[in-house]
Amino acid sequence: MAGNQNLHAAARAKKDEFYTQMEDIANELKHYKEHFRGKTVLCNCDDPYESNFFKYFALNFNALGLRKLIATCFDGSPVQGNELLFDFGDGTDEKKIAYKVEITEVSDLNGDGRVDLADVRYLLKNDRNALSTLKQHGDFRSAECIELLKEADIVCTNPPFSLFREYVAQLIAFDKKFLIIGNQNAITYKEIFPLIKENRLWLGFKAGDMAFRVPENYEARETRYWQDETGQKWRSMGNICWFTNLDHKKRHEELVLYKSYTPEEYPKYDNYDAINVDKTADIPYDYDGVMGVPITFLDKYSPEQFEIIGATESEGKGFSNGLWIKSSSIAQPLINGNRLYKRLFIRRKQ
Ligand SMILES: C[S@@+](CC[C@H](N)C(=O)[O-])C[C@H]1O[C@@H](n2cnc3c(N)ncnc32)[C@H](O)[C@@H]1O
Repeated sequence: MAGNQNLHAAARAKKDEFYTQMEDIANELKHYKEHFRGKTVLCNCDDPYESNFFKYFALNFNALGLRKLIATCFDGSPVQGNELLFDFGDGTDEKKIAYKVEITEVSDLNGDGRVDLADVRYLLKNDRNALSTLKQHGDFRSAECIELLKEADIVCTNPPFSLFREYVAQLIAFDKKFLIIGNQNAITYKEIFPLIKENRLWLGFKAGDMAFRVPENYEARETRYWQDETGQKWRSMGNICWFTNLDHKKRHEELVLYKSYTPEEYPKYDNYDAINVDKTADIPYDYDGVMGVPITFLDKYSPEQFEIIGATESEGKGFSNGLWIKSSSIAQPLINGNRLYKRLFIRRKQ
């Protein structure tokens, strides 16, 4: 039990407990419906009692035409709302047990004439076949969770921020389709950016602000923190986005460009062979060379319209792709010696 408690404490210390709202999940998922018919979905950082990802797929199981839904729960996760406590019958506290839920059918179980959250609750409480314990802590990297990953067609969750690089690497290694929440800072991670450049990973629909429920033991903050009328603590972040390799409509919408190039308005960097564009909307329609744009450009990126050449980033100079023209210890782009924010380097497709 002491080992379990340490694990528990470690998971909390990493501040990975950010619970996604149903509304954010539904608003994003509505753009991908065609991908889900006949598919097995895995939510592998999701306590079924807590996670709105699990609830969303259980509630929409029939509407999406899913073949199977699997959710696995990490035993480091605290349980927040205790309304759905599950008694394993052996005196153990279910908060500390890793388990999985596998569902192949969702029907009107409680016989009230509709399929709703009450049926999902009923299913979790009453269908012992659907729920079983995991021996390896429910860690998404454990052998038993990897077996479930192999079985899945699409993985959909908000994974722990602190393990994001490893999480994506595993999805890629097992060649899985995915739709996951992450931080926009990950765009220039050395493990993530090459995937973006090769069009093996892109952004989903929504990018920007998102609010998350956080556990009771998370401390108050000056900004982007509040408690609602029920006492539930919340945190929000301004740079959240969805990462996916499921195709969607927005990705093929071209940006309307209206500005023409002048050397005065679009100066070249001191240290990169590219012009600087401060706002995505100001990308000139008539410049054929390489342009440095803010990383938020990715939200408007269509692979038919632009090619991604490289990126400046905080983890070395690995993505400059021959654009780096002066040896310098500064990996940020400079203009007249002044630093600019991170940039992606792009070129218009002819
Ligand atoms: C950002 S939270 C999101 C929770 C849930 N997916 C949601 O969207 O509401 C990430 C969750 O992953 C869990 N977690 C942390 N490390 C994990 C691991 N190695 N394997 C599986 N889950 C992990 C955390 O305990 C936390 O509950």
